[in-house]
Order: sequence, then C-alpha cells, then structure tokens
Amino acid sequence: MAYELDDLVADCRAAIGGEPDLQQVCDAMQKALANPAFVDAHFPQSAEPGRTTLYHDPELGFYIYAHVPNGAILSPPHDHATAWAAYGQARAHTQMTDWEIPAGQDKPVPVRTYRLLPGMAGYYDIGAFHSIDMPETSRFLRITATDIDDLPCKYFDEIDTRKTIAEYLEP
Ligand SMILES: [Fe+2]
Repeated sequence: MAYELDDLVADCRAAIGGEPDLQQVCDAMQKALANPAFVDAHFPQSAEPGRTTLYHDPELGFYIYAHVPNGAILSPPHDHATAWAAYGQARAHTQMTDWEIPAGQDKPVPVRTYRLLPGMAGYYDIGAFHSIDMPETSRFLRITATDIDDLPCKYFDEIDTRKTIAEYLEP
C-alpha cells in the first residue's frame, strides 16, 4: 500500500501525542515524499503560490501544510517562538542554515548549512534558529506544532544571510 496523507497524519499523531518526537515526524514526511503519487497530488506542477492546509489536528494542534512559494525566498535567521517546525522537500531544493546565539552575545552566528533535496526532511525544535534560501521552484511540506503565523517569532532582519554564510564557509 502506498503511503498517503492518512498515513502521514496517523504517524504524526503517534509521534506528537506524547513528548513530540520530531525525528519520527521527519521519518513520516520522508515516507510520504517517497510516494510520487503523494507529491503529484499535493504539489502539482500547476500549483498556485500559497500555503495549503492539508490537515489540522483538532486535539494535538499540529498543522500539515503544502507550500508553493511566490518567488524565490531568502529569509533572515528566525525562530518559531514556542513552536517547533519540520520541513520536508517535495521538489527542487531548500538551502537550510542553522544559527546559534553565542553565550553573552545577542546576535546569532551560522553553525551549519545543508541542502534539503526532494525526499529529505529536517526539523527545528522550540527556540532553534534557522534561515532559508530557496528558488521559486521549491515545493515543500511543513508540519508545525501550531499556526506559527500567530506567534511572535524572532527575526534578525538586519543580518545579511547570504553574505554571512559565504564568509562563514570560506573564512
Ligand atoms: Fe522557519
């Protein structure tokens, strides 16, 4: 049997029901993204830009979204306030960079950058900072603890993400 949205929902409920196991959420996303029929159904080539809610759990509160960016995205480092978030790549890629605020400082520095390719997934726990660099052809799943748009996420808009990462990787 192919792994469909219902399977993803069931596995997410199992992963999130107690102490959330975000790696388990990512494992479930990867199973869904490995099914070409799932990707075609939720990320059709003709998809309009925007965020589609594939599922919202009324009891546990989490959301499963399909994202089609409206143009390329280069985000500054940010957290998700009191929520966690998991990302799964469906098409093209997302360059993810992890940031940490060194002790005694007030601005984050990049500590790791990696590329999410189709079928891959990664997560950011509560309080973790990341930045995103993706082409407009990127299509991705996102599963969040709650509706992050309602939360006071912290953004470091003043940080030039691309320049800082390049400098970091080529000191
Ligand atoms: Fe984010």
